[in-house]
Amino acid sequence: MTLSKHWQTLYTNVNLATMTDGANSYGEIIKGALAISEGKIAWLGKVSDLPDVDSSVVDIIDGKGQWLTPGLIDCHTHLVYGGNRANEFEMRLQGKSYQEIANAGGGIVSTVSATRKASEQELLASALPRLTALHQQGVTTVEIKSGYGLDTLNEIKMLKVAGLLAEELPVTIKRTFLGAHALPTEYKDNAEAYLDIVCDEMLPQVVSENLADAVDVFCEGIGFSLEQTKRVFDAAKAHNLPIKVHAEQLSNLGASELAANYDALSSDHIEFLDEAGIKAMKKSGMTAVLLPGAFYFLRETQLPPIELLRKHQVPMAVATDANPGTSPIHNIHLMLNMACTLFRLTPSEALAGITCYGAKALGLSESKGQLAVGYDADIALWNIEQPAELCYQFGVNPLSRLIQNGQQVLMNESA
Ligand code: NIG
Ligand code: FE
Repeated sequence: MTLSKHWQTLYTNVNLATMTDGANSYGEIIKGALAISEGKIAWLGKVSDLPDVDSSVVDIIDGKGQWLTPGLIDCHTHLVYGGNRANEFEMRLQGKSYQEIANAGGGIVSTVSATRKASEQELLASALPRLTALHQQGVTTVEIKSGYGLDTLNEIKMLKVAGLLAEELPVTIKRTFLGAHALPTEYKDNAEAYLDIVCDEMLPQVVSENLADAVDVFCEGIGFSLEQTKRVFDAAKAHNLPIKVHAEQLSNLGASELAANYDALSSDHIEFLDEAGIKAMKKSGMTAVLLPGAFYFLRETQLPPIELLRKHQVPMAVATDANPGTSPIHNIHLMLNMACTLFRLTPSEALAGITCYGAKALGLSESKGQLAVGYDADIALWNIEQPAELCYQFGVNPLSRLIQNGQQVLMNESA
């Protein structure tokens, strides 16, 4: 009996960017093949090493020399929200800064009022086209944060909507509770009382309804202090939930180092991260999540410390940060391009950022983000001649097929 008896699908005559070598290379297999069985990758290698395949049992697909990569992973988004902030975009173009707008009662809290007013159905309807856009670009896993409800009812509503999106589209959704995203106006001068609600009311309810896979905090001058962040981390730890953090985006408060003490999954943004923070992240095995869309949209000038992250071999993920305030950009291909042009990542580093290291930032590195035997068969087929094209060009979608859990979920003949 040959191995292939158990296969359902075989992609042959393909090149593979396996992404099993981190950011060092694409992990290329030229003139390769990949077999799927029961939603998992069952075999991959050179066509010349393929065992006999019984074509009456196995669905054989000729990839015609196209490239397979892991399904893309967007490990940091806020894509469930009400309203939009085009008015603040105009204000910023007239000279106001993101911080000034936030301090004057705009920013995150203005999205909070729109999100609170929206019903579950309305939030679902507005989030769906955003997720659809990512899906059509080859994304098979998306993380979605709460953080625009800022009260128990509305934080829960957001997380439920994020869960409902997975019933609308074949995308794996990981949810992150971000109750500590900003102070709602009703707690304007009473952060501690708000954090009591976050830690003692929202989080227990989120956990009891199984609505989140991780907990995040916005640690910043316009967010929460280091001490306040620690409170939320302690509460997350008590509920055994992994930690993520919005850190060092506009200033260096030391949140990445704090998160490292809690064995956090990732620290995200990190433009102002210093070497001590990087060393702490390395020691605890954290991933650095780079968000070039927010850097671009806020016209930041402080670059994340890419060279130091490389020196200390901290894995770098890349994500859209899709949100109405700092990155109203629902395009993962643009992030690849920006990671290279703005942050000077190499194309293999950028691609690793939305595959193997995107998975790592979500605690999924054992099952997603690589083409390897036993991994989930989340796979994208691209009409390209070399992987760097995914980073180099932008605006033409070369995705020709998308497979999630072994099932073909998209096909684009014109790619
Ligand atoms: O990731 N930095 C904090 N949170 C979001 C922005 C949220 C907003 O402005 O609505 C971010 O950039
Ligand atoms: Fe964010």
